[in-house]
Amino acid sequence: MAYLQPDKEGKVYLPAIRAAKEKGEKLICLTAYDYPTARIVDEAGVDMILVGDSIGNVIHGYGNTIPVSLDEITSACIAVKRGTERAMVVADMPFGTYHVSEDESVRNALRLMKYGGAEAVKLEGGRNRAELVRRLVSEEIPVVAHIGLTPQSVYKMGGYRVQGRTSEQANRLIEDAKLLEDAGAFAIVLELVPREVAAKITEQLNISTIGIGAGSSCDIQVLVLHDLMGMTFGRQPRFVRQYANLRQIMTDAIERWSSDVRSGNYPNDSESYGLTEETRKEMGI
Ligand code: KIV
Repeated sequence: MAYLQPDKEGKVYLPAIRAAKEKGEKLICLTAYDYPTARIVDEAGVDMILVGDSIGNVIHGYGNTIPVSLDEITSACIAVKRGTERAMVVADMPFGTYHVSEDESVRNALRLMKYGGAEAVKLEGGRNRAELVRRLVSEEIPVVAHIGLTPQSVYKMGGYRVQGRTSEQANRLIEDAKLLEDAGAFAIVLELVPREVAAKITEQLNISTIGIGAGSSCDIQVLVLHDLMGMTFGRQPRFVRQYANLRQIMTDAIERWSSDVRSGNYPNDSESYGLTEETRKEMGI
């Protein structure tokens, strides 16, 4: 397996993330869920790859992240790890895998690291997860926290809305971020929070903030690969900037191939295998 080979020069681990924060250097994070996209993302120079539970939306079509299982993330993580040489691989802990007890959460996080090859895990929640973060970190499990819009709380929140708009909510987010830093998280995702709140958190923390829909101040920016590439369906949130239209490129390619098949233009003899002259003679062809 790729992760048993020596590290590529410049392989990103925690010290590189910390050093970037100290130097004020921006880092890049993208999601990936399989070997080819991980290779493309890694070879493009992205610093961190998140095997996100957004796999539930963009790969499995569940409509939200609630049904995503540990096996689905583990399997995706194994493939991503094989395709990644330099970027840090972070695996999301799916809904239900860190909610029952600390021991079970540790077991599930260890599974993502030992079998999935994850180099860190991510989990959602604020102060309510601080003790769990402390426990995971004490077991040598690097943790990324995630506050603001936490999609695993979609039923409780009743939808996907900007979080931290009032001063009370904003202050609570800032406190949550500090508690999670204090508990040992090495980075914290800020999803869909006002840019001023994200800027304040980024300024006040020594750990890196990873922004998605949280303005330009965050230390690291993350997007869902399929949103960036134009591979998702339906209306996109305001912060998504689509850099390609792979859906259209794929549709065009499939339509051209289908048309070649229907017209007899595919396959042609130069693209298929034939018998040797000798065999043809023996068979009387
Ligand atoms: O699952 C995911 O892709 C995420 C990012 C949106 C941060 O959690």
